Amino acid sequence: MRVKKAIIPAAGLGTRFLPATKSMPKEMLPIIDTPVIQYVVEEAIDSGIKDIIIITGRGKRAIEDYFDDSPELEMYLTKKNDTELLKLVRDVSSLVDIHYIRQKEPKGLGDAVLRAEKHIGDEPFAVLLGDDIIVNDKPCTAQLIENFEKYKKSIIAVEEVSYEKLSSYGIIKGKPIDDSIYVLEDIIEKPTPVAAFSNIGAVGRYVFTPEIFDCIRSAGTGFESEIQLTDGIRLLNKSQNIYACKFKGTRFDTGDRLGYIKAIVNFALKNENLKENIIEYLNEILKMEKEKGKKL
Ligand code: UTP
Repeated sequence: MRVKKAIIPAAGLGTRFLPATKSMPKEMLPIIDTPVIQYVVEEAIDSGIKDIIIITGRGKRAIEDYFDDSPELEMYLTKKNDTELLKLVRDVSSLVDIHYIRQKEPKGLGDAVLRAEKHIGDEPFAVLLGDDIIVNDKPCTAQLIENFEKYKKSIIAVEEVSYEKLSSYGIIKGKPIDDSIYVLEDIIEKPTPVAAFSNIGAVGRYVFTPEIFDCIRSAGTGFESEIQLTDGIRLLNKSQNIYACKFKGTRFDTGDRLGYIKAIVNFALKNENLKENIIEYLNEILKMEKEKGKKL
């Protein structure tokens, strides 16, 4: 069965970005001029997804407004005859069929995924976290779907994480079956570095068979009293194989301040209109920092 639907959880509180996230969703933070969540939606579309469910919550209205029509703005740009900006604005609202489901309380990623159960029904689906951007010619979700079609079982994206970051990820134990695929043996949410099985962590892309919903429900509350997707995956793995895919691409965790800054610098360096000025500026401040270092 083809994967046509995707859930984008975007209902988290974004406490790492306070105070900005007091009144704006972290998924709407711009990477120069484009909000993070647009890159996530585009990855889903480029992977063949036809139907997207964004999980939102209190204070997340800006996401719905962003993907909606904006008649006043369109009228203003039409009057000014600014066809280029008009196209840009219209393209965003005509990207794909998007539905919104509210998570009443941010009770965890597993709970956010559960909110979409009725809409998904009895078919496989993708999950793309609303604050993770992954850049690659073949999108990460497309890589997962390709492997899902081969193995016919749930599959999660993984990458190597540094020792200091082990306790920020779901860490897997897996048996490699080829260059990029593991059969999952176990997974643990945010372990201490000593308790971690490996340095391979789950990142924000998944393809699941619908049995995951019952498993998330049965697993109940876990780490930090939240309903963890990782616990659902762990339970599902007891009754069927799950695979992990070391995807190709560069990932930016924009929910983290350093990850966000890296994404902006990276995208600026890829932008022909900005590249030269940014390099010049970076060289300038590096030189200044070196001078300062010499004085200390
Ligand atoms: P994070 O754990 O990074 O989000 O969840 P957070 O809780 O908002 O972040 P901090 O730690 O407080 O800064 C990853 C993704 O899952 C969504 C988030 O919006 C984010 O896109 N999420 C998380 C939900 O939709 N609901 C939740 O209850 C938790």
